[in-house]
This record gives sequence, structure tokens and C-alpha cells, in this order.
Amino acid sequence: MNGYVGAQHRFHDADFAQGWSDRFVPSPPRVALFDLILEQAARPSIANAHVLELGLGPGYLARHLLDRQPDITYEGLDFSDAFFEIAKKTIGPHLRRVTLTKADLLDQSWPKTLSRQPRAIISTWTLHDLGSQQAVEAVYARCHETLPEGGVLVNGDFIKPQGTSWVYEPGRFEIARHLELLRKVGFSEARSLAHLEPNIENPTAAQNYACLAALR
Ligand SMILES: C[S@@+](CC[C@H](N)C(=O)[O-])C[C@H]1O[C@@H](n2cnc3c(N)ncnc32)[C@H](O)[C@@H]1O
Repeated sequence: MNGYVGAQHRFHDADFAQGWSDRFVPSPPRVALFDLILEQAARPSIANAHVLELGLGPGYLARHLLDRQPDITYEGLDFSDAFFEIAKKTIGPHLRRVTLTKADLLDQSWPKTLSRQPRAIISTWTLHDLGSQQAVEAVYARCHETLPEGGVLVNGDFIKPQGTSWVYEPGRFEIARHLELLRKVGFSEARSLAHLEPNIENPTAAQNYACLAALR
């Protein structure tokens, strides 16, 4: 069997944003991804407690980290006011430690909008929506320029699994290519920590995501 894996989004529409958030509540494998990211984001032993998330969305990953790391400050970047409104409710009392930064990841000046330099840049289920390998590579390059030496990048995102005969939207591509792009822009120790909800034979658009980590 084969078919197409991809999704259409209306990120600036409040009803769409609410529907997406309701469908994508953290299930056990999604929480497993959050835990992997938490572990990596806590790794740098540099004196900087600021964590940046690309694509804050409804704030599920943000809440997971803020609940468990009382010492961090957090910056959630997104281009959607509709998602910011939902994230504010999800994050609740932790909001005083959070900066909401409105920027478009396709605009290469997004690093200039940040409130301060982060020690870790993290993301889940966002970069594939930029629509191409070139756009993901450009984000990886901007992250490399933004992080201090010893900082980490952890990207949990939908990928195209090896061995599939299905056609995937262009923003979903192989783990090996992600690692190649991370190395190309200058990261070291680029690796995949997990392939979650794998499904080669009969995949849905919500399956097959990887946890990709790299060191500045
Ligand atoms: C799947 S959600 C992120 C989920 C979030 N990481 C969580 O754990 O709750 C994807 C988010 O990326 C944002 N996004 C998509 N394309 C973007 C772009 N070009 N610039 C900035 N944000 C973007 C969307 O508005 C949406 O809020």
C-alpha cells in the first residue's frame, strides 16, 4: 500500500488552532519526546538558563519543561496570535518566566527578535511546516549562529522513514539528511536519539517523528 503523507494548516485561524491543540494533546510517545528534549536541554553546563522554542504552538512542550525546571527562563517563538492565546492558557502560572516572541521562521532576521541568547534551542513538530529542506537548513544555520559554544539544538519533528514507498510532503525528509544538514552548518555530535511512533507500512500524518540533537 502507498499514498501521501502531509497536512494543510491554517495557523492564523483561531478555530483551526484550537482544533489542532485538542487533537494533539500529549500522549505517552509525545511525552517520551518531551522527556528526551528535557534531558538534552538541561545538558549544557554553561551559565545560561534561557531556553528558546521554535514554534511554541499550544505550549505543551513549554509546560513540560517549565513544570520540571524551576531555574529556567523560556522564550516561545511563533508567528500565530491564535496559538499564543492558547499557549498562555496552557502555560498558566509559569508565564512570568516566559517571553512570547512573534516572528516568522522563513524570515532570516528572526534571531534579531530574540530577547537574549539561549543556551538551548528546541522545537517539536514545527520545522517540517516550513515546506522544504532548504528552509530547515536555513533555520539550522541561524540556530548555529545564535547559540553559544557548548549550546544545544534539539529538534523533534516529523520525518520520512527509511524504506517507505509513500510520498511525503517536502518538509518531511530522512533522518540522515537532517544530520547531514546539521553538520553542514557547523554543528558537531549531530545524532538521532529516537524514531517515535514508527509506521512504515500504513502511516498517518501524526506518526514517524524523530528527536534530532546537535552541539554548537
Ligand atoms: C505543531 S505546533 C508546535 C507544537 C508545540 N511545540 C507544542 O509542544 O505544543 C507548530 C507551531 O509552529 C508555528 N509555525 C509554523 N510555521 C511557522 C513559521 N514560519 N514561523 C513561526 N512559527 C511557525 C505554528 O503557528 C504553530 O504554532
